[in-house]
Amino acid sequence: MSLKGKNALVTGGSRGIGRAICVWLAAMGAHVYINYVSNPDAARETQRNIVEAGGIADILQFNVADTEAAQDAIKQLIKDHGSLDILINNAGITRDGLMVRMKEEDWDSVLDTNLKGAFICSKAAVRSMMKKKWGRVVNISSVIAFAGNAGQVNYASAKAGMQGLTKSMAREFAGRNITVNSVAPGYILTDMTRDLAEDIQEKIKAEIPLASLGTPEDVAGAVAYLVSDDGAYVTGNTIHVNGGMYM
Ligand SMILES: NC(=O)c1ccc[n+]([C@@H]2O[C@H](COP(=O)([O-])OP(=O)(O)OC[C@H]3O[C@@H](n4cnc5c(N)ncnc54)[C@H](OP(=O)(O)O)[C@@H]3O)[C@@H](O)[C@H]2O)c1
Repeated sequence: MSLKGKNALVTGGSRGIGRAICVWLAAMGAHVYINYVSNPDAARETQRNIVEAGGIADILQFNVADTEAAQDAIKQLIKDHGSLDILINNAGITRDGLMVRMKEEDWDSVLDTNLKGAFICSKAAVRSMMKKKWGRVVNISSVIAFAGNAGQVNYASAKAGMQGLTKSMAREFAGRNITVNSVAPGYILTDMTRDLAEDIQEKIKAEIPLASLGTPEDVAGAVAYLVSDDGAYVTGNTIHVNGGMYM
């Protein structure tokens, strides 16, 4: 499952699930580009982990919700390093609240980061993949896209949109040997979920047949399969990594 010679960009690769994906892809031999928006220390720590293990990683700061910044950064990466072969659209945020109280800006920021960001990054990346007639795009969606969740109309809509983006891209680019899939995690222990109150965590666990929250590595393993040669015949599909909470 060697990714030697491949360049892989992981948006939101500095922490949580993105970090685990960066570490895993680098261990498979990819040159990994760790994107983050605001926390350089976390990005540097991810880079250190990779380099200490003998891998290759660079840091690429940009805001996926800033169209010009994202496009420019990806164009420059392709210009400087020859190609972008693997894109993992992982950057994501939550701005939770019941719908009647949800501010329009909370809707906009979640849609802009989680959905439009994936569109913009994909659009900038696929040209290089089309030229090489090889590419892999993996969108990190969520169980919430499928099950919905009170208090997350913005997040659920963005992640459901990502599912449509995945299938339509898969159809558009299959002829160029570019596969496009999504991985839909359930509840994974990261900064995004760490602050959930103890009683809420217990309630969540009670709804999960495997009775525990997942780890970032559980998600990274599914991504690794999809970008590897073993996953070459899989496109337009979703791997659910959720302990059985949604079947
Ligand atoms: N954790 C879960 O239970 C869970 C479940 C289902 C799906 N997911 C999805 O998995 C993905 C990763 O989640 P996580 O739990 O690992 O999140 P996390 O620990 O909060 O990390 C989020 C990452 O995204 C980056 N980021 C946020 N906004 C960005 C922007 N505008 N531009 C570029 N980077 C940005 C952050 O960078 P900075 O450090 O610079 O802010 C950080 O690297 C998200 O798409 C999330 O929706 C998570």
